[in-house]
Amino acid sequence: MSDSYHIQETDADSSSSPDPTPDDSSTDDTVRPGETDDLVPTIEDVPESQSVIRSEDLTVHYGDEQALQSVTVGIPEREVTAIIGPSGCGKSTYLRCLNRMNDMIDAAKISGTVRFRGTDIYAEDIDPVALRRKIGMVFQKPNPFPKSIYDNVAYGLKIQGFEGDMDARVEEALRNAALWDEVKDQLDSSGLDLSGGQQQRLCIARAIAPDPEVVLMDEPASALDPVATAKVEDLIADLSEQYTVIIVTHNMQQAARISDKTAVFLTGGQLVEFGNTDQIFENPENQRVEDYITGKFG
Ligand SMILES: Nc1ncnc2c1ncn2[C@@H]1O[C@H](COP(=O)(O)OP(=O)(O)O)[C@@H](O)[C@H]1O
Ligand SMILES: [Mg+2]
Repeated sequence: MSDSYHIQETDADSSSSPDPTPDDSSTDDTVRPGETDDLVPTIEDVPESQSVIRSEDLTVHYGDEQALQSVTVGIPEREVTAIIGPSGCGKSTYLRCLNRMNDMIDAAKISGTVRFRGTDIYAEDIDPVALRRKIGMVFQKPNPFPKSIYDNVAYGLKIQGFEGDMDARVEEALRNAALWDEVKDQLDSSGLDLSGGQQQRLCIARAIAPDPEVVLMDEPASALDPVATAKVEDLIADLSEQYTVIIVTHNMQQAARISDKTAVFLTGGQLVEFGNTDQIFENPENQRVEDYITGKFG
């Protein structure tokens, strides 16, 4: 299996770490006067069989500062999950945990588990670089390589040692990123010569070319103008037919427009509510979520 993200093939079930039993009912939060139900998160449990990624008790500290508090949630397959919440509440931290991008941040200390199709992605035999081809990422600021459009898209496939029809794969990825028609006659020109919106779609093409299962996006449209934003939003809806998309956005209207599920993080890195986007925006269960969504804070 050349595509595997395991360094050595091992049985995914041979768990060296104990399997924490997901039990959403228990919480050791002490209820203080005046703060009742709102301390208990409302997390819709996505059945194991339908969740492609699942974090359990995922906690992150940067030095002494806690950025995530015991986040337990399953992310459903081939849907768009939006992550919203005020600045600094841990959205990017959470996203980076899902494909081990936090490995690059020395101060980040992670506990708990993240499973991708049942496999602990922090297990010793996982190759993070290979994992990131399965769980790709797109950042806020478009960051094409200083290479041709073609080479940007072919990059991951080349590293992977892909020996098939490269031209066809590049075209397919550019088509899936809704960019092909705009660039098909200039594949040799630099990715950096494209407009900001085109650059972001190029980065999406680069992320999907190695045929990932999950695409993580951290505020992918926040540096774009409204027309380019609309194109990226349309594209995200199309992508979810083939991929699981997890998108951080600070734009609540955007989350409401494009996502199927929404996860609301609040200050302190707590996941406070997770469920169907319609329900969260129309009738959130948690008072603090309602206050956030209606603009009372954040
Ligand atoms: N590389 C880092 N080093 C130290 N602290 C960090 C780092 N990245 C984020 N933090 C801190 O962790 C908290 C969560 O940050 P982040 O995940 O970026 O939030 P968000 O994406 O919701 O704005 C913040 O208090 C932030 O200052
Ligand atoms: Mg962020």
